[in-house]
Amino acid sequence: MRAWEVLAPTGLDGLALNRDRPVPEPGPGQIVMRVRAAALNYRDHGVLRGVYGYTKFPVIPLSDGAGEVAACGPAVTQFREGDRVAGTFFQSWPGGRMPEDASRNSLGGMIDGVLADYALLTAVGAIHIPAHLSFEEAATLPCAALTAWNAVVETARIKAGETIAILGTGGVSVFALAFAKMHGATVFLISSSDEKLARGRALGADHLVNYRATSEWDAEIRKLNGGAGVDHVIEVGGANTLSRSMNLVRQGGGIYVIGALAGAGSIDPRMINRKSIRLQGIHVGSRDMFAAMNRAIAAVGLRPQIDRVFAFDDAKAAYLHQQGGTHFGKIVMSV
Ligand SMILES: NC(=O)c1ccc[n+]([C@@H]2O[C@H](COP(=O)([O-])OP(=O)(O)OC[C@H]3O[C@@H](n4cnc5c(N)ncnc54)[C@H](OP(=O)(O)O)[C@@H]3O)[C@@H](O)[C@H]2O)c1
Repeated sequence: MRAWEVLAPTGLDGLALNRDRPVPEPGPGQIVMRVRAAALNYRDHGVLRGVYGYTKFPVIPLSDGAGEVAACGPAVTQFREGDRVAGTFFQSWPGGRMPEDASRNSLGGMIDGVLADYALLTAVGAIHIPAHLSFEEAATLPCAALTAWNAVVETARIKAGETIAILGTGGVSVFALAFAKMHGATVFLISSSDEKLARGRALGADHLVNYRATSEWDAEIRKLNGGAGVDHVIEVGGANTLSRSMNLVRQGGGIYVIGALAGAGSIDPRMINRKSIRLQGIHVGSRDMFAAMNRAIAAVGLRPQIDRVFAFDDAKAAYLHQQGGTHFGKIVMSV
């Protein structure tokens, strides 16, 4: 089979196409997925550079893929050949508490991922995909969508009429926008680009702020919100944006700490207790959360926002496109 392999953590140079890799065989409790589409996440750049942490080399990259079950190992009862499935980011977190070893079992990190013709998955690390989605659309769900779902729905437990600020318009943020609107929240969206903000408006964002033009976006959102803080903040910026997010959130509001895109910075921990802020880390999510998200996506017929689909052989161009930062939503490769 064909498989892209990260041979060494040297950036894009370390990524190579192997056209002669054996197709994996499923063992007990495992399935093999014929991959039809795969999607990129910001994390996959960290894997290329060896800064993601839990990574082995060489590794087949990417956590997010969808396709059909090609073969089932012994003792697999949930799936049959031909079922339309996606892999779960963590291969060992069916539900309940996050296991200590979850990060060691993430696809495209410590174990081989999905940027290949076939991928080996555990049966508990696979899930049926909503019937109305194409493979390209379903491939966007395992990391970005589930992270947004975990933050907005499972953890924030957002309600109609609440307010939420969402930073950026990448994969996670555009799903957060969709899930917040699905639940009737008022969304404040910030982006570096007016064009992307207009696309966010078309998807239901209520208030828009360009953080390049308005560096004090926290104060601007408070003004737009009648002087009050917001109930929730989807934090993908990290240290550099966290102080503003802490300023923006209301007393007792929640900040869901997801990413670290915006570089270094420092925060004043006193503000956390003085404002009783709930600062909650989010790490993708469990298979049970994935199932709940799929039910919601199917019920409302949600369609993921795909920025661009690349051919499998053009994987390097897909990585470069994401690095360029002009994308809105997800970058996908068809396999
Ligand atoms: N904890 C988890 O489980 C988890 C899961 C998935 C992702 N993440 C993390 O979440 C972050 C986003 O991931 P992604 O896959 O969605 O990335 P992505 O698709 O590449 O999106 C990145 C977006 O972030 C926005 N951004 C960059 N700098 C910003 C700043 N200073 N202030 C506000 N927004 C800023 C940009 O939006 P504009 O172009 O609109 O300005 C950009 O489009 C990454 O740090 C990633 O590692 C964490």
